[in-house]
Amino acid sequence: MSDSSSSNPNPSSKSSPSRSGAFDSAVDRRVERFTESISFDQRLFGHDIAGSIAHAQMLADQEIISAAEASEIESTLTEILAELEQGTFEIREELEDIHMNIEQALIDRIGDTGRKLHTGRSRNDQVATDLRLWVRDAIDRVDGLLEDLQKSFVGRCDQDADVIVPAYTHLQRAQPVLAPHVWIAYSEKFQRDRERLADARKRVNLCSLGTAALAGTTLPIDRENVARRLGFDGIVANSIDSSSDRDFVLETVFCLTNIAIHLSSWAEEWILWSTSEFDFIKLPHAFCTGSSIMPQKINPDVLELTRGKSARVVGSLQTLLVLTKGLPLAYNRDLQEDKPPLFDAFDTVEACLELAAPLVAQAELNRESISSRLDRGFLDATTLMEYLIKRGMPQRKAHHLIGDLVRQATKKSVTLAELSLEEFQSSDPSLDDSVYDVLGVDKAVAAFQSVGSTSPARVAEQVCVWKKRLSI
Ligand code: ARG
Repeated sequence: MSDSSSSNPNPSSKSSPSRSGAFDSAVDRRVERFTESISFDQRLFGHDIAGSIAHAQMLADQEIISAAEASEIESTLTEILAELEQGTFEIREELEDIHMNIEQALIDRIGDTGRKLHTGRSRNDQVATDLRLWVRDAIDRVDGLLEDLQKSFVGRCDQDADVIVPAYTHLQRAQPVLAPHVWIAYSEKFQRDRERLADARKRVNLCSLGTAALAGTTLPIDRENVARRLGFDGIVANSIDSSSDRDFVLETVFCLTNIAIHLSSWAEEWILWSTSEFDFIKLPHAFCTGSSIMPQKINPDVLELTRGKSARVVGSLQTLLVLTKGLPLAYNRDLQEDKPPLFDAFDTVEACLELAAPLVAQAELNRESISSRLDRGFLDATTLMEYLIKRGMPQRKAHHLIGDLVRQATKKSVTLAELSLEEFQSSDPSLDDSVYDVLGVDKAVAAFQSVGSTSPARVAEQVCVWKKRLSI
């Protein structure tokens, strides 16, 4: 509190490399603290050093600096990298961010040669490049985690091949399906998430370096050279666009939001399935927690937090949208605020995915409990309706007739299969006892035919495609 009482009670003693001779005073400490990003951008260090080494090598290729200078820069940056990895590097808040910390350390160690690194470069294109490199790696990690989760779902299809579960619409019992059909449904959703990420990655994987502050540079740099060295697919074409673009952050975080929402819905479903009321699934106890007062409780906290943490990811997207909506061209300092929501979105989604994959693999279906109640909810009603349609009855008429039978069965507390042939015939005299061929969940499931549907043959086709896709 003491240093917020007067105008500049505690000017910074050390000057930053970004503070040129144009300033007539040192920066106010409070401003230093307000404007720093080192507290959250230090995790970019590896990518910053990779970017700087590629830039220095290009400068040497273009004879803007000598090969000896480039190699001294490279070896010193490699030394700094090792210290950062080991945690022995001294971070200085007054140097604002990771970029300046590394550059200042380089200058402290090799003097004027270090002062040449920033030639033809600005922090605007440097930050954007580092961030693109970081996001590219993070996308690849999430893609791998999504694949692991898909493997968990597809990996349990054989063991659950004969389990019929009720499927719901409006959370009301609707139709019987095979459990692997549900597992594949989730794999499909996560596949679209992977495809969206792969598509976003195309726009992430372009190099911003060489666009400098915004207008480019008068120096004879080679942007393609840097892009190649860093494994980018190409360069961001327009220098003004390049220094101001954060679309790649927005769309990547949208992809993460979609993943988080898929995870949240799955978590919600399995929380319900794990209740005594549903009693469909036993969650692995290694993924549950207890209650401090109720000794019988085994709570699905991992699933609840997966559902809860999706809110943070949605919040990160919201933060980024509002952050960027009013920015004029080109770089604005507001953009520094893109990192906390970006990092948090990745950290959150990765943490959820890391637990989701083993949880899915280890959960057990409560087969008896599920099957003991499959006769509830008239799960075979649609199949019976389609049986009538196949016999020539118009759909709307069949729909009405089955509704009528459901009402009669409900009154008598019986299933459709338990209605007598006379009762069926009183609704439609042309009915014969082949009606019983489609009643009961086993027969109903077997009767499905359409591609992508739930009959054992159709589900086996889907499982086969998925096993091949995931090489399992
Ligand atoms: N710490 C800043 C950031 O992360 C560095 C950008 C500085 N550029 C500038 N024009 N001041 O965005």
